Order: sequence, then structure tokens, then C-alpha cells
Amino acid sequence: MKTIAYLCSYEQNNEISEMQISKQRADILNFCKVHNINVDEIYNEITEKYDYKPVLLNIMSESYNTVERIIIANFDVISPNKDFKDWVKDEFARMKIEIICVNSEIIMQEDIQSKNISALTENIKNIPSLPEIITKSIEIMQDKNTSSETLAKIISNDIGLTARVLKLVNSSYYGFPKQISTVKQAITILGFTTIKGLIISASVFKMFSESSSGSAFNYKNFWKHSMMVATASRMLAEYSDIDKSEDIFSASFLHDIGKIILAKYDRENYSKVCKQNYKTDFDFMKSEENFCGLNHCEIGNVVAYSWNLPELFCEIISNHHNPEKSYKCAQECYIVNIANKIAEAIESNENLSIDDIALEKINISGQNVISVHEKLIANSSDFDDIDKFLK
Ligand SMILES: [Fe+2]
Ligand SMILES: [Fe+2]
Repeated sequence: MKTIAYLCSYEQNNEISEMQISKQRADILNFCKVHNINVDEIYNEITEKYDYKPVLLNIMSESYNTVERIIIANFDVISPNKDFKDWVKDEFARMKIEIICVNSEIIMQEDIQSKNISALTENIKNIPSLPEIITKSIEIMQDKNTSSETLAKIISNDIGLTARVLKLVNSSYYGFPKQISTVKQAITILGFTTIKGLIISASVFKMFSESSSGSAFNYKNFWKHSMMVATASRMLAEYSDIDKSEDIFSASFLHDIGKIILAKYDRENYSKVCKQNYKTDFDFMKSEENFCGLNHCEIGNVVAYSWNLPELFCEIISNHHNPEKSYKCAQECYIVNIANKIAEAIESNENLSIDDIALEKINISGQNVISVHEKLIANSSDFDDIDKFLK
């Protein structure tokens, strides 16, 4: 059974975008290298119309029982036209051919509308964008020529943000052993990536820390859970051999951000979700879908991408309940998935059970999980003050 790649470029005014094709090829080959996937054939389509795809149709008619997966750079290469795209996806599913999309699939506004989510669709427009200081800092940090002085100057201009970053860095949650007293010192010691994560999580916390009255959603428990999962994720990452270049603590702190979005922007429906008891996360997410139209991972995905959050944040927010779906940050998603189960076991006072496959994925032992569980229980009173924290 073969693995094939499909590239597509749309010809406009007789011009073919070579850039488009070479970027798709580079993204796919890079992805396959990282994931050890051998591509047997690469198909290249140049077309004028979004729904005129002779090469793709040919693949579809000749691939049954010979192709097991098709790799694409993004779903728009199938077509930006939703009906055509859905038809192709259904056909491949029927032929049992897996589609691997190298660049994360973003839930489009049209998908939200097609689900007929009246309250949410209206209110989603009111979700604030990230404060300018955050978007500016993220932008500046992408530039390799930025010095820590420049960044420190920008962050230090915002007294509230500076205080929150220093408080978090020096807290027992973060577990950094040395006292850090200035932003510049924090940047030098922790590096741009960690600081980027810290300022994002500190700002989002500030934006959503206020509880809204009359809601059955418990804000205090929510942030306590978030901090517990972030702490457990950092501990698990230390046991595992994953690349620590990204700051898993901050990204996992925001793993359930979709819940607070639903609680705030689809308040009545989410209150109904929160009033029931659930045996599993799956049941809980089904209930979110029934009442609100989207579960917290799906709405979190929409918001994370619209805020332009770093890839690790988007992947964790979207895939922490289905880590196997993350092609780019699967190990980190497994870590947050396990950390989430540890936190839930403590919150519900129930026994912890973790799948061996998940442990293998991040290369840690059952004993490591038990020790994170025990440390978290021993320090659980640390998480009680979360509502006073970072304000
Ligand atoms: Fe979750
Ligand atoms: Fe969670």
C-alpha cells in the first residue's frame, strides 16, 4: 500500500504560483522526514478552478486498495469550496484512505456557521483580541535580531504585565529555584520562548479571570485545574525525553481555554452543560456539542488560531483529549492528556489509571506518573489561591 502526496496550485491570470507549490512540497517533505514516512509518489495539480481537479479525480478513481494515505499541505489544496472539499473527504474516508494534513486544520468560521450555533456565532464576534502589548511582543520575539534589552523595555512599559510575569516566574507553581527581580533578568535566564509563553498565559488569565454572575461554571475551580495541569505537565516533561524548547507549562495552563470561552460567550447553554454529572470526558464533550454546538477543544481551536498563538498552544488546546490527532506536537499533547487525568483524579478523589500506550509515547514509567500524582496531592493547597494569583 502506497503513501502519496498531492500538491495543488491555482493558476491565476495565466500565472502559476511556483512559490505555492515549492512551499507545499517543502512542508510535506519536512513533515515526512520528522515522522519517518516514506512518500512513494508526488502528484502535482495546476488548475484554474477550485472544483476542477483532474489529477485529484484520477487519484480517487485509481487508488482503491493501492493507496493507504494521502498527504497534503492544507485542506484548501483539495478546494476552498466547502461542498467539494467535504465530498472529497467523504470519498477518501469511504475508500479507507487516510488524509494527513501537514499544517494543522483550522476550524473555519464557515464550519461554525454550518453547525447552526446561533448564540455562539453571534457572540463569537465579541471575543476580545489579545492586548496589543502581547501581539507586539510575540511579533518582536519572532525576529531573530531582537535583543533582550528591546523586549525587556517593551514589557516593562506595562507595569501590570511586568508584575504578573515576575510573580509567575517566582511562584512555587513555576518552580524556578532562583529569585528573579527584573524582566530583563527573566528573559536572560528563561529565554524568549518561555517568556513568550508566560506573557501569553498571564494575559489570557487576566482577560478571563472575572467570573460572570448567574453561571453554573465555576471559574475558581477552572483556574485551579488549569494550574494543576500546567504544573503536572512541566513535571512529566522533565521525566520524559521530549524537546524542551517550547514552554509546555504556559501552553498547558491554557489547555481548556475553550471552556471559559463557552462559559462567557454561550453562558446559558454552558450553564446547562455544567449542571450535569459526567462519567467520562467524552460524555462531557458530547454534552458541550449538544448544548453549544462545539466542544471546548473546537472553540479553543478557533480562538487560538485567531489570536495567532504559537503552534504548541494551538495543538495542545485542540488535541489534549485526542493527542493521537496531533501530528506536530503529539508528545506534548500526550503529556497534557496525562496531566489532565492526574488533575481530574485528584479533583474527583478517584483512582488514577493511565494507558500504557500514552506512557510509551512520552517515554516515562508508571512510577513517574505516580510520583507526579503524589507531589501534586502534597502541594494541593498551593492551588487554592489561584484566584488571587496573577491579578
Ligand atoms: Fe479539556
Ligand atoms: Fe482539563
